[in-house]
Amino acid sequence: MGRVNFGVSAFFIFCLLGLSANAKVFNIGSKPGCDITKALLKAFNEACQFPTKSTVLIPKGEYKLGEIEMTGPCKAPIRIALQGTVKADGNAVHSEKWIAFRNIDGFKLNGGGVFDGEGNAAWRVNNCHHTWKCKKLPISIRFDFVTNAKIRGITSLDAKHFHINVIGAKNMTFEEVKIVAPAESPNTDGIHVGRSDGIKIINSFISTGDDCVSVGDGMKNLLVERVTCGPGHGISIGSLGRYGHEQDVMGIKIVNCTLQETDNGLRIKTWPTAACSTSASDIHFENILLKNVSNPILIDQEYCPWNQCDKKKASTIKLSKISFKNIRGTSGNKDAVKLLCSKGHPCQNVELGNINIKYTGADGPATFQCSNVSPKLMGTQVPKACSSPVTKPLK
Ligand SMILES: *[C@@H]1O[C@H](CO)[C@@H](O)[C@H](O)[C@H]1NC(C)=O
Ligand SMILES: *[C@@H]1O[C@H](CO)[C@@H](O)[C@H](O)[C@H]1NC(C)=O
Ligand SMILES: *[C@@H]1O[C@H](CO)[C@@H](O)[C@H](O)[C@H]1NC(C)=O
Repeated sequence: MGRVNFGVSAFFIFCLLGLSANAKVFNIGSKPGCDITKALLKAFNEACQFPTKSTVLIPKGEYKLGEIEMTGPCKAPIRIALQGTVKADGNAVHSEKWIAFRNIDGFKLNGGGVFDGEGNAAWRVNNCHHTWKCKKLPISIRFDFVTNAKIRGITSLDAKHFHINVIGAKNMTFEEVKIVAPAESPNTDGIHVGRSDGIKIINSFISTGDDCVSVGDGMKNLLVERVTCGPGHGISIGSLGRYGHEQDVMGIKIVNCTLQETDNGLRIKTWPTAACSTSASDIHFENILLKNVSNPILIDQEYCPWNQCDKKKASTIKLSKISFKNIRGTSGNKDAVKLLCSKGHPCQNVELGNINIKYTGADGPATFQCSNVSPKLMGTQVPKACSSPVTKPLK
């Protein structure tokens, strides 16, 4: 008898443990077609207060979703499974974001679903791509101070402004993410990251109207690997130095990526009238395939759109330890390589190895220009590398 009892209760305890090892599911419980803003917030808050792992489920189907902030800290790791499609209100333009995830540690977002920002109507009436003095449209998805997180297998469509913005993250991975908006949609950066430590963007597809991945100040340890970009404006570090109180950028690795039909390729841009003197270092681009990419390799320390600054001033952002290796394919214009470094702070330790960029336009062949930099060259150099004039730093 005693033995049997022991066996039964051991089995019972095993089952209890088994159950608690699986996440508790909080279904939004709404019908397709409904506005789920309140239901999602309620499900999130309940899950967030649940003492063990939980999942918030948005099942298959199309739903409307208004502006929402899902804020931790939560009591245990939390997952949002988006299986359906959530659609923003195309006319809701008076906010800085559509969806925000804030202060969550141990976060997963997956499920194969779609965030549709319904940007079309908003793009037409917005003029932020022509002037600074404009009302910014909402960013589709913000991750603010989210740590130990994995975002996998979701799609962002037609964001009104940036698709995804990340700030204050630690240890965050984006994998198999798909981002789509028309080439002519304004300011629809794919993933913007800044002031974070340890972000990976892996095996993803980003086709949009602005930068594919853009890197803001304070970004440390970013890996972008097996990402296909285009159309759009390519991968950009910066712009840096426009504002005061910026932080250094370091440890950026872009590897095994493809850029197709983008307006820029691999770019580092800093403002000439730098409001601060920070640095950007340890930035490596390796194994990149270019398909008809304009300005494939570009360091621009005279970045000054709409003449918002005095181009004669030197950028005070110090660029160092930068490499471009195995960069091959076709350019969409003759400016294949342009390394325009600051006359106040020439770039240090710039390396180019196995560059093979072809341009077949009538105004060709491709060119390689540099100023205030003396790059170390290895392997193939097509086009022929500059003879690297270095001017002395300004006193
Ligand atoms: C990073 O986050 C993942 C969750 O996506 C977690 O499994 C992993 O343990 C974290 N790594 C560290 C070093 O904390
Ligand atoms: C890039 O991909 C190749 C195989 O396609 C692999 O051998 C290499 O390790 C990858 N490079 C990096 C830096 O991940
Ligand atoms: C390259 O891109 C330009 C636009 O930047 C386009 O006009 C041209 O047709 C493209 N060329 C090829 C060969 O696809």
